[in-house]
Amino acid sequence: MASSATSPVQTTDAASLQDARAHWRAAVLRVRGETERRAAHLSAEDQIVQSMADASPTKWHRAHVTWFFETFLLKPHLPGYAIFDERFPFLFNSYYVAAGPRHARPQRGLITRPNGDDVTAYRAHVDEAILRLIDTVEDDETSRVFAILEIGLHHEQQHQELLLTDILHAFAQNPTGPAYDPQWQPPKPAAGPRGFVAIPKGIHAIGHADDSFCFDNELPFHDELIPDMRIGRHLVTNGEWLAFIEAGGYETPSLWLSDGWTTVQNEGWQAPGYWGQKDGAWHVMTLGGLKPVDPTAPVLHVSYYEAEAFARFAGKHLPSEAEWETAARAGLLADAFGTAWQWTRSAYLPYPGYRAAEGALGEYNGKFMVSQMVLRGSSLATPEGHERVSYRNFFYPPARWQFSSVRLAEFV
Ligand SMILES: [Fe+2]
Repeated sequence: MASSATSPVQTTDAASLQDARAHWRAAVLRVRGETERRAAHLSAEDQIVQSMADASPTKWHRAHVTWFFETFLLKPHLPGYAIFDERFPFLFNSYYVAAGPRHARPQRGLITRPNGDDVTAYRAHVDEAILRLIDTVEDDETSRVFAILEIGLHHEQQHQELLLTDILHAFAQNPTGPAYDPQWQPPKPAAGPRGFVAIPKGIHAIGHADDSFCFDNELPFHDELIPDMRIGRHLVTNGEWLAFIEAGGYETPSLWLSDGWTTVQNEGWQAPGYWGQKDGAWHVMTLGGLKPVDPTAPVLHVSYYEAEAFARFAGKHLPSEAEWETAARAGLLADAFGTAWQWTRSAYLPYPGYRAAEGALGEYNGKFMVSQMVLRGSSLATPEGHERVSYRNFFYPPARWQFSSVRLAEFV
C-alpha cells in the first residue's frame, strides 16, 4: 500500500483535474509499455518457463499485474466493468488471501493456456478500461481512484524487475547460456576513491518524508541513532570476492552463520550465483549471456548469508538500513542506485508505529515482516523512476537470484 498520491491529484479545480487526468494517462502508457518492451525480447516459449518456485514465468508477470488493476481498481471503481475472463483471477492472484483463492505458485509454469496472445488481449482490455476510468471518474473520486492507480503502476514496476531476474534464472539453467538481450551491457561502476567514509554520528530521521508516493513499509518517518562508524563508498568487487573464494571462504565454517553454513553445504555453493568455470576461468551468466567475470565490477547474485560471511572475512560488518539511508541521504555512497541491491544487517520489521492499510491491499507488505532481510538502493533491473532513498526491498537470507551485492561498514 501507499501514502497519498502525488501532487497533481490533490487539487480540485477543473484545470488541475484535467492536468491530473493527462498525467495519469501518460503514466499508464509509459509503465504498461515498459513491461511489454521488456517481454518483447522473449519468445512465447521463453515466456512460459518457471525455473524454480520463487521465480514466475514472464507470461504470468504480464497477466498478474493486469489482474491487480482489474481487481483493485476497475472492479470497484469503473461502473459496468466486465471481467475479461472469469478464470483469470484464480490463475493470476499472487498472494492476496482477501481477493480469493489462487493457483499454487510453484505450478505457474504449467499453465500453457491462456497462451501469450490471450494475455496480450487481457492487457489490452484492461488498458482500455483504465484509460476510460481516468477520463470518466467523477471529480470528487479522483483522489481515491488515482491513488490506487498509482499503487498499481508501482506494483507493475516491481514486476518489471522480477521479469528480468526470473528470466535470467531460467536462462542460467540452459547449457547454451542464452542472452536475454545480446546488446546488454553492465552498468559502469562509479569512479572516485575507494575506501570508507564517516557517517555523521547522532540522531537521524529515516523513512519517507514528503507526500509523494511510497509503499507503506517506508512509513512512519522516524528517528534512528547512528553510532560512530564508517561505510564503504563502493560495492564489493568480483576481484575482492575472488580473494574470498581463493582464501577458502566457502570452506571455512567459522565465517558463516549456522543457517548459512547449512545452506552452503546443501546447495554446494563455491561462488556467487550464476558463476561457473569455463576454459579455466570464472564466467557469470548475465542478461547479455555468459560473460567472463570482470574483477573490477561489483559482485552480483550473492545471498545474505554470503554477504554476512564475506563481511566477517573482511573484518567488517554489513550496514544497518538506517546507517545505509543516512549515508545515502548525505551523498556519501557511490553506486547506491542502479547497479545492485545491497544487503543490510537489518531484519525486515515494521518501523515504530507502522500500520498496514485496511483491506486486501494491506497484504501488500505488512504480512511479510518476519524472517527476511532488508536490501537498500536499486539494481540494474529497476525501472526508471522506481528508486527512492527510503525504499525497502526484502528477501529471504538464502535468496541470490536478484541483482544483490554487498557494501561494507566498520565501527570506530
Ligand atoms: Fe504482485
